Amino acid sequence: MATQAHSSHEKGIGNGSKKRKILVTSALPYANGSIHIGHLVEYIQTDIWVRFQKMQGHECYYVCADDAHGTPIMLRAQSEGITPEQLISDTSEEHQADFKDFAIQFDNFHSTHSPENRFFAETIYNRLNKAGHISKRTISQAYDPEKKMFLPDRFIKGECPKCGEEDQYGDNCEACGATYSTTELKNAVSVVSGAKPIEKDSEHYFFKLPDFEAMLKEWTGSGHLQDEISNKLQEWFEAGLQEWDISRDAPYFGFEIPNTDNKFFYVWLDAPIGYIASFKNLCDKKGIDFDSFWEADSETELYHFIGKDIVYFHGLFWPAMLHGSGFRTPTAIFSHGFLTVDGKKMSKSRGTFIKARTYLDELNPEYLRYYFSAKLGSGVTDLDLNLEDFRLRVNSDLVGKVVNIASRCAGFVKKKFNSTLSDTVSEPELFEQFAQASDSIAAHYEAREFSKAIREIMALADLANQYIDEKKPWQAIKEEGHEQEVHEVCSMGLNLFRQLMIYLSPVLPVMAEKTCDFLNMEAMQWNDVQTPLTAHEIKKFKPLMMRIEDDKVQAMVDASKEGLAATEAPKKEKKASKKAESQPKVHEPIASESDDSHIKADPISDTISFDDFAKIDLRIAKIIKAEHVEKADKLLQLTLDLGGETRNVFAGIKSAYAPEDLEGKLTVMVANLAPRKMRFGVSEGMVLAAGPGGEDLWILNPEGDQDNGAQPGMKVK
Ligand code: 2FM
Ligand code: ZN
Repeated sequence: MATQAHSSHEKGIGNGSKKRKILVTSALPYANGSIHIGHLVEYIQTDIWVRFQKMQGHECYYVCADDAHGTPIMLRAQSEGITPEQLISDTSEEHQADFKDFAIQFDNFHSTHSPENRFFAETIYNRLNKAGHISKRTISQAYDPEKKMFLPDRFIKGECPKCGEEDQYGDNCEACGATYSTTELKNAVSVVSGAKPIEKDSEHYFFKLPDFEAMLKEWTGSGHLQDEISNKLQEWFEAGLQEWDISRDAPYFGFEIPNTDNKFFYVWLDAPIGYIASFKNLCDKKGIDFDSFWEADSETELYHFIGKDIVYFHGLFWPAMLHGSGFRTPTAIFSHGFLTVDGKKMSKSRGTFIKARTYLDELNPEYLRYYFSAKLGSGVTDLDLNLEDFRLRVNSDLVGKVVNIASRCAGFVKKKFNSTLSDTVSEPELFEQFAQASDSIAAHYEAREFSKAIREIMALADLANQYIDEKKPWQAIKEEGHEQEVHEVCSMGLNLFRQLMIYLSPVLPVMAEKTCDFLNMEAMQWNDVQTPLTAHEIKKFKPLMMRIEDDKVQAMVDASKEGLAATEAPKKEKKASKKAESQPKVHEPIASESDDSHIKADPISDTISFDDFAKIDLRIAKIIKAEHVEKADKLLQLTLDLGGETRNVFAGIKSAYAPEDLEGKLTVMVANLAPRKMRFGVSEGMVLAAGPGGEDLWILNPEGDQDNGAQPGMKVK
């Protein structure tokens, strides 16, 4: 898939070629809700990518803003007895503190309720209007006669016309899944006042999306979107493009449409324009050439990171609006999937609807940055935060592998060698092997295949640990005449650690900064991996990262449940949690403007995509040991050899196999299943078996034996 103009890091200036100019955005969070871990998938993903680009020496800017307009924000402010301006200012402060503490480093964080955004919204609208791309017509909509306002679908509730379930929103039923129009809802009431909605006419303004059909067909089919998104948009073309309603009647918190009588831009019209506005605000502060980034024939790159629920806006409306008003279109839209926790939708009642601040109160933000990156690829599949796997993986990879290298070497260098590294690297080939991984790791970062980058970095960390294990400096130091060797081994170890930290620094910027301090060096650049630190004085080693204690994770989950109890009345609680579970989207549903919910739906979640399937890492494994498990009726404990790596797996195949039948055999296993804590221990994968059960159960057995080519660790295609 070629989703970007510059797909290769080889063009990075580190290799003597062109310095790229790149503008990157994440979706703008609504200004009336807190940031939660679902949102953080995107901000962390984008931040890592941006930090990587900056490390390559490119001119890269990362901008964002609060999405400040719309009915929910207006009503929230009213219910809190404050002005919308006060609400969005308070929220902006909260959001920015959360982002900062998660090391999300925006070059600018602005607001859609800003003079720049008003200017660009008006400019784009006026140009579209002048070119004939705006139409007007009268439509009839639900209206609250008490509150004297039109009601978005989400502000009407009633009984489902299909199944009769009470308390359903105006556009779809959570009980039976039916979709309908608000007029079909039985005994409908306005959520705002409780009044019975009436139908009322008003004139609306529309963006004539069908005018752009040819342009969009071309644009969506030429590498600007991931394949699965591009395919989805083809279905929307087949269904026919519709004119888009971009106006709302007063009262509305937003910008008035020029030359209209009290009509406002719909929040989704000026939201993406907020990307431009935030960047303009940055340009004015920093003297950056704005036009070179936004003119129609710009040679700079523009990337939007978004959740898959808002591709319609970014893949259709946005390029059409930009093109129609003489601005450049995006280089690529990068969509990601939703977050699940322990395999389920985020849920308030389970304590897995975790706010950024609740997480930060208990845990180091870099744990989550690492875990997400270890699981993120370039596709739109959902990502699971398995809380047990999270703890085990961070402890094992970051603390057990990476930090361990430094902590095993630093003490000797300080105490015995005057805090100074040896004059040469004693294992130049090993150093070179680490340095040569640079291109491949960089290519993974560039392609947003972070999990692949992490896998490669951790394989290097294993090598570094093996090297230290073999050399045993803690033993050698006790033997006479081995001082120089210990100096060389520990200096080598610290050089390998430094290379690993350079590779990890987009993911772990805080730990990278601490590493710079410890190794007494300037900020890390990507190409620093090529040159070792020799005859160099380092500083005192301080623990760079602590293990995750189990009780901290539990405390975070408990605090997320407590937040619910404290803020919601019991009767509503049930509904609220039901709601949260039904819409675990990255973007908090209650905050969203719902008129467009039919196009904000998850486009790709019913069937398992080829990409989902391709994520399953099937490997040939050799069963080197099979044992009974005490007190388990169905399980056998298998020790599997994956070609160098062993795994402990509990398999429910006791009814069909005796342990001795299995030892020495090859089987097929799922190698990338999250570890699962069972009563008898942790299971690190799954062997594949099929059959009706009992004795009629067969483990999948790759044809032949090792002589025929099947080898443990081999990928199953
Ligand atoms: O879905 C949301 O959370 C929106 N606030 C995203 C807006 S992204 C951009 F278009 F501004
Ligand atoms: Zn129903």
